[in-house]
Amino acid sequence: MCGIVAYIGKQQAYPLIIDGLKKLEYRGYDSTGVAILEQGISVFKKKGKVQDLENFINTETKNTNGTLGMGHTRWATHGEPNDKNAHPHTSGNQELAIIHNGIIENYTTLKKALIELGHSFKSDTDTEVLIHLIEEVQLKHNLHIEEAVKKALQKVVGAYAIVVIDKKSPDIIIGARNSSPLVFGLGQDEYFLGSDASPIIKHTNKVIYLNDEDVISINRNGDYNISNLKNKTVSHQIKELDLKIEELEKDGFDHFMLKEIYQQPATIAQSMKGRLNASEGWAVLGGMKQHINRISKSKRIIMMACGTSWHSALVGEYLFEEIARIPTEVEYASEFRYRNPIIKEDDFVIALSQSGETADTLAAIEIAKEKGAFVYGIVNVVGSSIARITDSGSYIHAGPEIGVASTKAFTSQISIITLMALYLGHERGMISESDYRELLSELEVVPKRVEQILKKNDHIKYIASEIKSAANALYLGRGYNFPVALEGALKLKEISYIHAEGYPAAEMKHGPIALIDMYMPVIVIATNQSAYEKIVSNIQEVKARKGIVIAIINEDDTIIREMADFFIEIPSIAEPLTPLLSVIPLQLLSYHIALMRGCNVDQPRNLAKSVTVE
Ligand code: AGP
Ligand code: GLU
Repeated sequence: MCGIVAYIGKQQAYPLIIDGLKKLEYRGYDSTGVAILEQGISVFKKKGKVQDLENFINTETKNTNGTLGMGHTRWATHGEPNDKNAHPHTSGNQELAIIHNGIIENYTTLKKALIELGHSFKSDTDTEVLIHLIEEVQLKHNLHIEEAVKKALQKVVGAYAIVVIDKKSPDIIIGARNSSPLVFGLGQDEYFLGSDASPIIKHTNKVIYLNDEDVISINRNGDYNISNLKNKTVSHQIKELDLKIEELEKDGFDHFMLKEIYQQPATIAQSMKGRLNASEGWAVLGGMKQHINRISKSKRIIMMACGTSWHSALVGEYLFEEIARIPTEVEYASEFRYRNPIIKEDDFVIALSQSGETADTLAAIEIAKEKGAFVYGIVNVVGSSIARITDSGSYIHAGPEIGVASTKAFTSQISIITLMALYLGHERGMISESDYRELLSELEVVPKRVEQILKKNDHIKYIASEIKSAANALYLGRGYNFPVALEGALKLKEISYIHAEGYPAAEMKHGPIALIDMYMPVIVIATNQSAYEKIVSNIQEVKARKGIVIAIINEDDTIIREMADFFIEIPSIAEPLTPLLSVIPLQLLSYHIALMRGCNVDQPRNLAKSVTVE
């Protein structure tokens, strides 16, 4: 969601900003813009992609000279995506400009008051109101821009990461954050602000992650000051990132999504590195070990997440209950935060997030913490907000996930949750030594099994070509594979825009069966050893209504392969580990269908990678 990049230094800002915006494209956006400060502030903005903005600037031969600048990719919340609503927005006197990620919730009240004071607005955004408010405060109290920003932000309710520039202070950039992410990059005689490290890493690996209510003022000479809204100086440690620029490239693949699907043997292995040793018979997570007494006495586990991470959490419910015998609840973070949830001290709360910046998950964690819960984070992005506010946690170490449709994060989250369940189950004496050892050994070879499935890509592509024109699709699974059915359906709808539903297979007869006809592909995950006969019956019910059955089956399956219209074999594995394998063909299936339908696989319409607003 929305990308921010800003630069101050000795080089020309414009090419660096454009390059940075391209690195931020993966976050999802609908319009883009740049402001350069030299004699005055020049603003260029356009609906569409960064390339459209570049074309516009090149054809009109605009002057983009200047060594201070900022750029934005907007994901519209207030006002439709068009040129005038694109950021940057300027103050009435054209001396200030702002880019913003987030939502100013009290913008209507502020706007009304500003209109009464004589301000007029050119856009429908909440953001433009903020820059007029800063202008109003600055002029009224005759303040330097840093002070004006702080004073104005005290009147603001909502979420923001902002960058503000002022024609009167051509050697200064101001940044501020509350709930939305902002990273400060310290290079050699040059300084950056970014929504994440991706536009910065090419230039420097030294960063500071700003916290809520931090305001940073960066001077061209390298002096910088971070303070809170009340003017109290805040100290931060400079962190060194080990992110490599190549990790942000497609690496010869046509799309990031495909690259990330193919990375899974490596990313799953990476997630378990140093945490699992099957021959010695142990599974341990550092973040849990420190608190294992408390965690293993938990009476209940509550898992909170959104989207694909929520599906991983659902797999967790099955794992924790079966292996560790702890009652587990899975919550949509967005619902949890607006209820009055009952949290007890002996609850163990787990928050899952690839980006570590999802606004709803962040807010849910804060509520759980306020109520005294111990919150554990399972996060991919190192240094992200969720990683920093949780009491303990484990990184999944999947590397940057750029495709909007989450793939490798899902499997890495599940491998971490599986390790957690095994560790806990063993500590609590809830799993027999032989079952424990067997699951450890099978888990260790999951990367190899995933490699075997990836070899079936051509066959999956063929199936995709057979069903690509469907208007709807149904995904069915039972037990551990019910969440995989949900995930398969989500993958398909996100990137191919085909309406798809995931259901527990047995629920089909309670409603969705009415939808089945000869045009309806029904993707059945039929790898469960338990309830196998029941799945066979479910498939018969679909066939009896002429539905097209695509079955994911075990290699040794003899019955379903005869019944299904198409089947995809996956290696047999202990049932609790099947989600790690059964999801792979579903990822590839949705990828190929989307591609065949001419969809933008990596940046599907309306979606954002990092959902930093409510
Ligand atoms: C997954 O394909 C989605 N794009 C989306 O549902 C995502 O999983 C969700 O927004 C949660 O993101 P997070 O893991 O970064 O918190
Ligand atoms: N609320 C702002 C807008 O709609 C910012 C959106 C964003 O985060 O991109 O313009």
